[in-house]
Amino acid sequence: MGKPSLAGLALLVATCTILVGTAFGGGSSFNDEFELTWGDQRAKIFSGGQLLSLSLDKVSGSGFRSKREYLFGRIDMQLKLVAGNSAGTVTAYYLSSQGPTHDEIDFEFLGNLSGDPYILHTNVFTQGKGNREQQFYLWFDPTRNFHTYSIVWKAEHIIFLVDNIPIRVFKNAESLGVPFPKSQPMRIYSSLWNADDWATRGGLVKTDWSKAPFTAYYRNFQATHLSSSPSTSSSSFSNGDWQSSELDPNGRRRLRWVQKYFMVYNYCADSKRFPQGAPVECKGSRF
Ligand SMILES: *[C@@H]1O[C@H](CO)[C@@H](O)[C@H](O)[C@H]1NC(C)=O
Repeated sequence: MGKPSLAGLALLVATCTILVGTAFGGGSSFNDEFELTWGDQRAKIFSGGQLLSLSLDKVSGSGFRSKREYLFGRIDMQLKLVAGNSAGTVTAYYLSSQGPTHDEIDFEFLGNLSGDPYILHTNVFTQGKGNREQQFYLWFDPTRNFHTYSIVWKAEHIIFLVDNIPIRVFKNAESLGVPFPKSQPMRIYSSLWNADDWATRGGLVKTDWSKAPFTAYYRNFQATHLSSSPSTSSSSFSNGDWQSSELDPNGRRRLRWVQKYFMVYNYCADSKRFPQGAPVECKGSRF
């Protein structure tokens, strides 16, 4: 084999750029990208496919899922959560594969009494195992306006973002023996249901059904395929500068800000739960 020609190289670069930048679903209709899966008329697509709503009443919640499956990518969605007294309700928005060893990347919004803060609960399941909860308050009222909740899923890491501010990074720690989601394609799911046995103040505050139906709104879904680059392998985790490959200094600063002022719970810091020491993927995860 001879040396690759300059033209060949240029073509390769161009092809990679196209692959990395392929947007699918951007600005398209909810009718094209999603199907309503349960709750009958409680789940609705309207405004010509530009808006979707889920609602919950005493009889049932509701949900939808994506028609497509994704393997790596950036998924953005704008949500406006149940307003008023939303105590006891949970709006889940997540990526998941199927089967007993499924992978899952979760946002769950735990409602609250009027004026009391929602909790944004996050988790990552790999090979069927979760127990990696981190919870946050938000720096705004998520029921007043739409805000963007994003998942960046690459072979090197998963980043959770709120209005483009990183709130959590789950690194690929396969080199330490922790499975990472990288081969099972996932669908996007969302549902609104009653979880008043645990959601609000640990189950102390119950759902007030006189306020039903409870409704959450969705718009501006966008999915961008990110091909994972083989050059940044998980080995960068161990050499200490893995951080630089996932967030720029500004991103790291914002992540630290969120973790310092808005984090409610971090499994990595729960020494009661893990008396033997934090799970291995927690190593180096404090910013
Ligand atoms: C609800 O409000 C209470 C009181 O401010 C707070 O302790 C709790 O963390 C809030 N969120 C949830 C989901 O319970």
